[in-house]
Amino acid sequence: MRFIAGSSVTTGLWTAGYLGIASAPARPLSPASRGQPRPVPAELQTERLSLEPLRTAHAPWLIEPLRDPRLYRFLPDIPVSSLRELRARFDWLATGSSPDGLETWFHWAAYCREERRHVGLFEATLHERRWAEIGYLIFPSAWRRGYALEACRRIVQHLFAERAVDLVVADTMLANIAARRLAEQLGFREASCDSRSDSCFKCGGPPAGHVRYVLEAGAPAPPLATAAGAA
Ligand SMILES: CC(C)(COP(=O)(O)OP(=O)(O)OC[C@H]1O[C@@H](n2cnc3c(N)ncnc32)[C@H](O)[C@@H]1OP(=O)(O)O)[C@@H](O)C(=O)NCCC(=O)NCCS
Repeated sequence: MRFIAGSSVTTGLWTAGYLGIASAPARPLSPASRGQPRPVPAELQTERLSLEPLRTAHAPWLIEPLRDPRLYRFLPDIPVSSLRELRARFDWLATGSSPDGLETWFHWAAYCREERRHVGLFEATLHERRWAEIGYLIFPSAWRRGYALEACRRIVQHLFAERAVDLVVADTMLANIAARRLAEQLGFREASCDSRSDSCFKCGGPPAGHVRYVLEAGAPAPPLATAAGAA
């Protein structure tokens, strides 16, 4: 996730290959460089969650759960160390685009209305040529309650229906079974796998491997696994 370290560093290459755009002659202009306003994330609702566009004001609510080391087992960074650092990161994310202007960033803090607390973070990176990648993180105290499934379903639906995206991508470490099962339950199919890749993993360890999942617009919906999934 970019929230942690910027998965786009690796995914740009993978997706260029998958989409066959590696040899594209020219970079398309970003909305900003065309003088168009950059799209802003919408607040999205699901059965149990409000997906709130991430703001600097979320930092004090999220700093404690984000310190949990269990979150970082398959993520390339270390937990944030201070509120100041987290505010700065949220400020940066709220700019809504990569420094080169080619990516549009949407980030959401997931608030559970029933539990009256935030339970995780989600992101979508919109690229030129109508594809997007998603990232997901649920705080360990809320794992296995179907929240990630519920939120991701809504985000994917939003990307296809309201952001004119044709393809959604989810990348994860090969060993991240929870993230992989989640992608599969969402209806994604495995598109590529690089078992030797270690470009997004903590230094010093053995190559960890990545797997890329994709979901095309109009792909048949997977059967609902839980009632909560019907967002
Ligand atoms: C991956 C993650 C977001 C899943 O969140 P979650 O809210 O617990 O997932 P859900 O409850 O919606 O589970 C949906 C499905 O995913 C799969 N799944 C989730 N956690 C799993 C686990 N620990 N082991 C195996 N499968 C798991 C199951 O198929 C599950 O459906 P089921 O409960 O009906 O079997 C969460 O484990 C997480 O935040 N991990 C740390 C951060 C991370 O690695 N993010 C992904 C980066 S690529």
